[in-house]
Formats: sequence, C-alpha cells, structure tokens
Amino acid sequence: MNKIYFIFFVLLLFSCKPKATKDDVKIDEKTEQNILQLAKGYFTPLSKFDIEKLNPERRKMVELGKRLFYDKRLSGDQTINCASCHDMNKYGVDNLPISPGDKKQFGTRNTPTVLNAFLQYAQFWDAHARTVEDQCVGPVFGNFEMDMPDTVTLLKRLEEDEYYRKTFAEVFPKADTAISVTTFKRAIGAFERTLVTPAPFDEYLKGDLKAISNKAKLGVKAFVDNGCIPCHSTSIIGGQMAQKFALYGYYWDYTNSSYIDKGRYGFTKDPGDKFVFKVPQLRNIVKTYPYFHDGSVSDLKEAIKIMGMAETNIQMKQEDIDNIYEFFKTLTGEIPDHAFENK
Ligand code: HEC
Ligand code: HEC
Repeated sequence: MNKIYFIFFVLLLFSCKPKATKDDVKIDEKTEQNILQLAKGYFTPLSKFDIEKLNPERRKMVELGKRLFYDKRLSGDQTINCASCHDMNKYGVDNLPISPGDKKQFGTRNTPTVLNAFLQYAQFWDAHARTVEDQCVGPVFGNFEMDMPDTVTLLKRLEEDEYYRKTFAEVFPKADTAISVTTFKRAIGAFERTLVTPAPFDEYLKGDLKAISNKAKLGVKAFVDNGCIPCHSTSIIGGQMAQKFALYGYYWDYTNSSYIDKGRYGFTKDPGDKFVFKVPQLRNIVKTYPYFHDGSVSDLKEAIKIMGMAETNIQMKQEDIDNIYEFFKTLTGEIPDHAFENK
C-alpha cells in the first residue's frame, strides 16, 4: 500500500519538473551547439541603450530631438507629427499599408520603423538618404507626409517658440545660427540614434540558451538553409544593401500590388536599379505589419513564403516557415522608456 503511494509521489515529482516548455520540440546537444555557432557567425547582438550614460549636452540634444519628433507644428497644416506615422506604441510604425499625410493625402510606400533605423546603411525604401539626419527633412517637406511649404516657414515656427529659442542656443552654442536646417537635423538624428531595441534573441546570441525556444533555434537554421542570410544578416538582420525584388519573377505577381513601383530606379534612373529596394531590417518584424514597400502583404508567414519564391527560388516547407516565424518573434525588443511621448 505505502509502496504504491510512494510510486505515485515519485511520478508526481517528475511531472512537476519544468519541461523544455509544453509545445516546444526537443533538440540534441550537438544541434543546439551547431545552431548557436551559426547564429553567432551571421548575427551580432544589440545592447541596451542607456540614456543615463550620455553626457549632459548630448542628453539635451536628444531631448530637443524628441520634442521635435512629437511636435505637430512640423507639418504644414499642424495636424501630424513624426509619431503619427512612427508610433512608439506600435513599434515605430502605424500598421497601415500607406499612412495618411497632414491633409489625409496618400503616397505609395509603407512606413518603415524608426526603431534601430540609424543602424542601416541607408534610409528610405530606395535607400536615397544615407543617415537619419539626412533623412528627416524628407518627410517634413514631402507632399505625401507633413507637407511643410518651405524651410523659412519651418524655421519661423521654431523661432516663435521660447523653448526652442533657448534650447537650440544651449545645445548648439557654436553654430552661426542656432535654429537652422542643419541643427534641426542633428537634433532629430540624436533622438533617433537612441532608439535601440535589444530582444530575447540578443540574450541567446550572448550565450543564454534558454532565452529563445527550440523552435526559434530551428527557425534560425531554416533561415540559413533557405538562403536568407546573404541579404538579411548583422545586428538588425538586414538594412545593409539594396536588392532586386524579385530576383525570380515579378514582385507584383506575389504581392498582388496594384501600383508598380520601380524602386531605386525612380531616384537613380539607372536601368539596373529597376525594382531594386533596400533590404529592410527585420528587428520587431512581427509588430511592424503590413509588409513590403507598399504594405501589400499583412500576414508575416505569407511574406516569408514570398521571400522564398521571389528571392531564393525555393518553395519553402511549412515547417520551415513556422519555425522562421518563431525566430522572428524573438526579435521583438524592448523600446527604451524615454522614447515615449510622456516619459
Ligand atoms: C505621413 C506619415 C509619415 C510622417 C509624418 C513621417 N514619416 Fe518617416 N516615413 C514615412 C514613410 C512612408 C517612409 C518611407 C518612404 C520611402 O521610403 O519612400 C518613411 C521613412 C522614414 C525613415 C527611414 C526608415 C527606413 O528604414 O528607411 C525614417 C528614419 C523616418 N521616416 C523618420 C521620420 C521622422 C524623423 C519624421 C518627422 C520629422 C517622419 N519620419 C515623419 C512616413 C512618415
Ligand atoms: C536577394 C536578397 C534577399 C534575400 C535572399 C531575402 N530577402 Fe527578404 N527582402 C529583400 C528585399 C529587397 C526586401 C524588400 C522588398 C520590398 O518590399 O520591396 C525584403 C523583405 C523581406 C521581408 C519584409 C520586411 C518588411 O519590413 O516589409 C521579410 C519578412 C523578409 N524579407 C524575410 C526574408 C526571408 C525569410 C528570406 C529567406 C527565405 C529572405 N527574406 C531572403 C531581400 C532579400
């Protein structure tokens, strides 16, 4: 009798032992180590950005940039700010295929995230601006975005504000004119350069094997095996080059896009640049739907499948797509507190 109770007790103990996680798969030690080595070879971890470590001058510049980022006076009709399209609560996007501008006018391209954007080799879908500083005047005067009539109007609006007069002068004491397009760009850029979002995947890369699920690890392997790495690697899994979409077939056959965008060609007029787009970063990708330069695909698994057909000419196995999706979930990071409007 007692013996039976004892066996029950032992069984109970075992069943309470933490399992890998209920629906996760098992992988053996060798596979575990191989995948970690693969991951370390192609990706580098992001580290938390500590605003406390900035010197007081730089910190003031970041705060000034943040004030500008959230200021609706930057738009012609004073109806929208940068955050209207690049909402921190939505991981630096607005989850719309195309964002409405200050008069509810629409462009043709999807809003990419501002998070980690400064880590890319260039900005915009056609990579026509190099740094976030060069980039930020684009939307202010862009007809489809903030549609500010001209620089004179912009600078006048800033001059009229006492906080800006005082702060620009303090932050840029050596500038000929404290409030200028140059100092404006530097301030917004300084803010954007603090928007780093480390994620569970970074803990994994640093050696914490429990930071991500085994399915996600198999997803890393599937990502390598399906040929995604040549375009999507480094710390932000992309953002380091421009490539043709699609290398196999025409992109609109996959995405059902109604507007045919010629990509970089529109800017360079080089026939070799037809349908060439910047390879996007994949940080926070689960959160930054819909996908592609025109937001034509809203399902991430569909986007993964399309990439296989369009860029690597592979009909991917459903299991690989599912595991890559699990890997992508581990790229959802922590947005720094100071990035939010009221913090
Ligand atoms: C009306 C919506 C809208 C507003 C407002 C807006 N943006 Fe954007 N932003 C976009 C779109 C759309 C793109 C992509 C345009 C393209 O590539 O042709 C973009 C691109 C960017 C990029 C490049 C990201 C990348 O990966 O290429 C950055 C950085 C950025 N915006 C920052 C800003 C800042 C700073 C402001 C405010 C001064 C701002 N945006 C205002 C919609 C907007
Ligand atoms: C030859 C380069 C190349 C390869 C290989 C490649 N991609 Fe891409 N990827 C791109 C380009 C370019 C885009 C942007 C296309 C567009 O929107 O115009 C993109 C976009 C994406 C997007 C959408 C990102 C967003 O923010 O909209 C995802 C997801 C993605 N790729 C995943 C993958 C996966 C998974 C693989 C492997 C099966 C892969 N890619 C292989 C170049 C590549």
